[in-house]
Amino acid sequence: MKVIAVEDYEEMSRLAAEIIQSKVQSVPNAVLGFATGGTPIGTYKQLVANAKERHLSFRMVRTVNLDEYVGISAEHPESYHSYMKKHVFEPLGILPENCHLPDGEAEDLVLECERYEKVIEQLGEVELQVLGIGQNGHIGFNEPMTPFSSKTHVVELTASTLTANASYFLNVKQPTHAITMGIGTILKSREILLLASGESKRLAVNILLEGKADEKVPATALITHPNVTIIADYPALGLK
Ligand code: GLP
Repeated sequence: MKVIAVEDYEEMSRLAAEIIQSKVQSVPNAVLGFATGGTPIGTYKQLVANAKERHLSFRMVRTVNLDEYVGISAEHPESYHSYMKKHVFEPLGILPENCHLPDGEAEDLVLECERYEKVIEQLGEVELQVLGIGQNGHIGFNEPMTPFSSKTHVVELTASTLTANASYFLNVKQPTHAITMGIGTILKSREILLLASGESKRLAVNILLEGKADEKVPATALITHPNVTIIADYPALGLK
């Protein structure tokens, strides 16, 4: 694992955007794996600004997302479909037919997980998978004790994750379940870029950096992957 320590959120976002963008410049039809949550928003903003300024095209890029809530429609303002459309797909001009997320409203969720896993397989290797990290060390929505070999599956969100995301659902019912790529699915990516910002991530980041793979902290699965870069700011590293 390569660890890059940066001063703050802005520096993390600038650097992450450069890494994603240089991937697209070298492989214009790359399959990119995207994450949601608060952490990558600055990266996506920077990516959009750079694309405009440097006339970069994302037209041929194909995307997969880590996860989606169960029981809310794609049009729901807090769905990950809406998040991606707003922050990434529309501003970068990625063709809708090339954007893939699990369907959290599918009638048969088990079949939907199988379908999504196949979609990822058929796209070929994910060139670069962007990840955030939960306060409990989750990646995607893979909560503690998820097997490192897991494929796309339905999860019941833990109390820690529900609390961390409660502010997005102040006036509407908060989903309790999600569909997530498995840890095994994530580990198949050629390259992984994990972003961590803020003091609330310090414990999870510290455990990850200890370098011992342990299913109690899902992010530690990354220790077994040959090409992982972590960009963490000083507060996430406990340096400030
Ligand atoms: C969410 C998402 C993850 C994300 C993590 C951290 O629940 N499912 O993909 O990385 O939790 O979120 P944030 O970046 O808002 O701290």
